Amino acid sequence: MSLSASPSAFSSASTIVLGIESSCDEMAAALVRDGREILASVVHGQVEVHSPYGGVVPELASRDHVRAVSAVVEAALSEAGIGLEAVDGIAVTAGPGLIGSLLVGLSFAKALAYARGLPLVGVHHLVGHLIAAELASTDEPLTPPYLGLVVSGGHTALYRVPEVGAPVALGETRDDAAGEAFDKVAKLLGLGFPGGPAIASAAEAGDPKAILLPRPMRGREGLDFSYSGLKTAVSLAVERQGGLARLSQRAKADLAASFEAVVVESLVERTLRAAAQEDLARIAVVGGVAANARLRRELVAAAEREGRRAIFPPMSLCTDNAVMIAAAGTRLLLRGVRDDLALEAFSRVPIGETPWRVGGGVSPAASTRSGPTDTSGTSTTTGDRTSA
Ligand code: KG4
Ligand code: ZN
Repeated sequence: MSLSASPSAFSSASTIVLGIESSCDEMAAALVRDGREILASVVHGQVEVHSPYGGVVPELASRDHVRAVSAVVEAALSEAGIGLEAVDGIAVTAGPGLIGSLLVGLSFAKALAYARGLPLVGVHHLVGHLIAAELASTDEPLTPPYLGLVVSGGHTALYRVPEVGAPVALGETRDDAAGEAFDKVAKLLGLGFPGGPAIASAAEAGDPKAILLPRPMRGREGLDFSYSGLKTAVSLAVERQGGLARLSQRAKADLAASFEAVVVESLVERTLRAAAQEDLARIAVVGGVAANARLRRELVAAAEREGRRAIFPPMSLCTDNAVMIAAAGTRLLLRGVRDDLALEAFSRVPIGETPWRVGGGVSPAASTRSGPTDTSGTSTTTGDRTSA
C-alpha cells in the first residue's frame, strides 16, 4: 500500500482547509477558507483537568484529547455549516509539543486524510502562531517583514518573519518560558492555575517596587531570556517571610506585582532591542502571556516611543487554536507540499525545520520525495522523533 495520503489536487481556486491542533492542553479544530477567512474555530481547553496539579500533566492531557478529538472536529464542521465533502485539505500540528498530545491530533488527521482521500500537511506549531498575527483584522493588515514575540506557557522566543522563507529565531528562553514562570510563581504564592491571570489580578493590589527581584539577563548581550532564577528568587522571598502559610494578602500582592513587573520589563527590553537590531517597525505579540495587561500597556508605549508599533491580535488567535494551523497549512498545500501517512510527531523542533518532511514534501502526483521545498523551512532530522 502506498503511504501517500491522497493523490487529489489542491488548487488555488477556493480552498477550505481543516486545521487540527493538539500540541499541549487544548484540542482545537478550525475550518479556514483561502487561508484567511475563518469559517469555524473550536477550542476545547483542559483547565479543570490540570488545575488540581498546578500545571499541565502530559498523560492527562493526551487522555482528554482522545476523548475530545472527534467531537471537536464535528463541532467545527457544524459551526461552519459544512460536511467533510467540502473540505479540500487537512493541516495538523506535527511539533513541537507534548508527544502524547501531538499524536492524538496527528493520528486523527491521518485517518481522516486516508479515509477521505484528502491531501495532508504537517505544520510547525510556532510557524502557526506567527501566521495567526497576520490574520487579525487591524486597520492595517500585518504583512512580513515583522518581529514576532511568541510568549506562552511553552515558549518565549523572538523571530524575524521575513518576506520570503522561514521565520528566523533571534533569541529564546534558556530555561523556563515566561508563562511557565507565571504558573510556577502562582503556585508558590498559592494563587491557583493557570497562573498568569491569577498573578495579574493579585498584582493589581500590589506595589511592583515593594520587593527587589533580580532582573533576568540584565547587562547580558543578545536576545535570550531566562526566568528560572527569578522564580527561585520569589521562592526565597516567600521563605524569608516565613513560608506560604504566613504570607499576608498584602505580601502576596506585592510579590505578584514585583514579579510581573520584572517579567514585563525583561520582555519589553529584549523585544525592543531585537526590533532595533533587525530594523523592524512592527512587532506582533502572540501566545497566552499576550493577554497580560501590563505587557500590552508597556510594550505598546515603549514601541511607540521608538517609532514602532506593537500589535496584539485578539486573544482567540494568540492562544493555541487551529485557525493558525489551517492558515499555515493552506500556504504549504498551495505550494504543493504534502506529507504522507508516515507523518510523525516531534517534541522539539527548531523553527525553520520540518523533520517530519524528509525530502521536502511528497508531491501530489508522484510518490517521489522531490516535491517543492517547504518555505517554512528546510528539511532536517534533528528533532526528537516519536513513532506515530
Ligand atoms: O498560549 P497558551 O494559551 O498555551 C501554551 O502555553 O501554548 O499560554 C498559556 C500561558 C499560561 O502559562 C498562562 O499562565 C499564561 O499563558 N497567561 C498569562 C495571562 N493569561 C494567560 N500570563 C500572564 N498574564 C496573563 N494575563
Ligand atoms: Zn502555542
